[in-house]
Amino acid sequence: MSGFPEFIYRNNELCAESVPLKQIAAEFGTPCYVYSRSALTKAYQEFDAAFAGRDHLICYAVKANSNIAILNLFAQLGSGFDIVSGGELWRVMKAGGNPQKTVFSGVGKNTDEMRMALDANILCFNVESEAELSTLNQVAQTMQKIAPVSLRVNPDVDAKTHPYISTGLKENKFGMPINEAERIYLSTHRYPHIRFTGLDCHIGSQLTEIEPFMQASEKILNLLNNLKSQGLEIEHLDLGGGLGIRYTHETPPSIKDYVSALCARTGHIKQRLLIEPGRALVGNSGILLTQTEYLKHTPARNFAIVDAAMNDLMRPALYDAYHEILPVIKRNGDVQNYQIVGPVCETGDFLGHDRKLSLNSGDLLAVMSAGAYGMSMSSNYNTRPRAAEIMIDQDTIHVIRQRETIDQLTANERILP
Ligand code: LLP
Repeated sequence: MSGFPEFIYRNNELCAESVPLKQIAAEFGTPCYVYSRSALTKAYQEFDAAFAGRDHLICYAVKANSNIAILNLFAQLGSGFDIVSGGELWRVMKAGGNPQKTVFSGVGKNTDEMRMALDANILCFNVESEAELSTLNQVAQTMQKIAPVSLRVNPDVDAKTHPYISTGLKENKFGMPINEAERIYLSTHRYPHIRFTGLDCHIGSQLTEIEPFMQASEKILNLLNNLKSQGLEIEHLDLGGGLGIRYTHETPPSIKDYVSALCARTGHIKQRLLIEPGRALVGNSGILLTQTEYLKHTPARNFAIVDAAMNDLMRPALYDAYHEILPVIKRNGDVQNYQIVGPVCETGDFLGHDRKLSLNSGDLLAVMSAGAYGMSMSSNYNTRPRAAEIMIDQDTIHVIRQRETIDQLTANERILP
């Protein structure tokens, strides 16, 4: 067993559903991302089933993986979307997603993006400051529209996650303090082109405990109650994303336990519940497939130089994140301690430290749990074309993004006359 149900060994060969990864590498080259349709579907269905009987909307956080095939798959399953840019809205619409099931988050929406989202009649703007609210009011006025808004509250809760992905502490740039939000909610007369329809928070990402979610919900429910007692009826509660996944030894709550806890905590209110999961839907549904180019043994360390790099998967370099690295073909050779590194000219270009593997040059490796914030955070650093993306559906292989070409990389550049 690999520990990832859709990526399993058969006769010592790692497969994605029914397809050997070796075959994918031979046909499409490396590095490439490989996703499992079944894993994506099961994750979505686990969220959805856990809400049974409760009015809810799952808004997939597009930033986790924005490939239009993945967005289309979730749209077909009934998902809504959480976007943070006009570009993401465009992707959602291109993928057949429903703008009326789409919420727009982020601290810095510009007026073009606001116009685009108002035109598309999105479900809600998650507004993060009074300045943004005032701009949105003006934009809506020029379009003779009413913008539906949730204020994103910063509940000042410690998500106990990596500082770069913790968002719900009062020191963070996200959301607004609860008392300020209350004041703004009650000043509707100042914003004639805004209608307050929701209440929103998101406290961070890769949370492995339920407790911080409960603390945040508590504070949001208090605010909801205060607003109600002052005559403002809110239609939905958006509790954000953030549920963690297992990369190695983490023990996050299951999707079912997490959703059940949210439903139980909010069982006494009638408002529709929204959540914005990203990682928990896609993280363990994808891997990064890479080939070993060279083995380099120095007096200090053994390096396996592979053809994927920090530009393909930035998480190890950026957060010192741990991703399991598995051999595609298990062999019984001499095991050594390897630093798995890419070809990029940076010491921070690594995919894994101190991995015990038996390796030859040419061997394929699978970097696990790479479905979330892998491809979507990739870059062209070192003028490296971005990887291909492949979706496996049982025994069928679909190319959902072709490998980029070097021509495409320079297509928008011009030499001076
Ligand atoms: N909603 C909002 C407003 C967010 O900012 C995020 C993620 C999500 C939902 C989805 O959170 P998730 O369910 O995926 O935890 N690049 C980092 C993660 C950054 C998360 C940013 N916001 C990583 O690779 O770990």
